[in-house]
Amino acid sequence: MPINIAIDGPAGAGKSTLARAVAKRLGYIYVDTGALYRAAALFVLERGTDIYNSAAVSALVPMMDIELKYVGGEQRVYLCGENVSGVIRSPEVSKAASVVSAVVAVRQFLFDLQQDIAETNNVVMDGRDIGTVVLPNAQVKIFLTASPEERAQRRYRELRDKGMDIDYKVVLEEVNQRDYNDSHREVAPLKPAADSLIVDTTGLSLADSEELLYKTITDRLAEN
Ligand code: DC
Repeated sequence: MPINIAIDGPAGAGKSTLARAVAKRLGYIYVDTGALYRAAALFVLERGTDIYNSAAVSALVPMMDIELKYVGGEQRVYLCGENVSGVIRSPEVSKAASVVSAVVAVRQFLFDLQQDIAETNNVVMDGRDIGTVVLPNAQVKIFLTASPEERAQRRYRELRDKGMDIDYKVVLEEVNQRDYNDSHREVAPLKPAADSLIVDTTGLSLADSEELLYKTITDRLAEN
């Protein structure tokens, strides 16, 4: 049976960077499920459909052609045959992904895709509902978090480094808004699974966070 490691947590906790690094060390495939929701959101935006109209968004689901590919261990997400791994990172898509990910039909559609990958591969899968919904039998479940202020600081620095002129307060507001959306929606809200291990990276460097995450996972695997 393949080994499945579920990593959930709020936006900006460093999940994708840390999960990718740990997957590499373990020799497992890293699955960034947020990219799937982002691709679905991009599809909705490209169609000019109102992201808040869940009936209209649901009606688009059968037309969504989303695929994950792995090139040299790196995940690429394809929408209707086109590599959209870069464009799905825009703030517009981030916001739309947070909204359309609350639509049941979108979640159901992406659920199968995620389960199929985990059934046939050793994976480190990161998202919001991996330990609670997608991989309830994962051998290790992690809830990776950090304070909202710390997450906003990291995001702020990242955007400034990219040359964006942005206010820290606006970034903090966005972080709080996304946390609220992700944890208050009716379907699959963000919350730790009963059996998840909490890893809090507040005040830790990236290297120390990685060590803590790696050790938490390998200790738990050794117990199994
Ligand atoms: O992790 P991210 O920022 O790329 O995720 C984008 C959005 O998708 C985020 O607002 C929450 C949503 N999401 C989700 O609902 N379930 C997942 N497993 C992954 C992401």
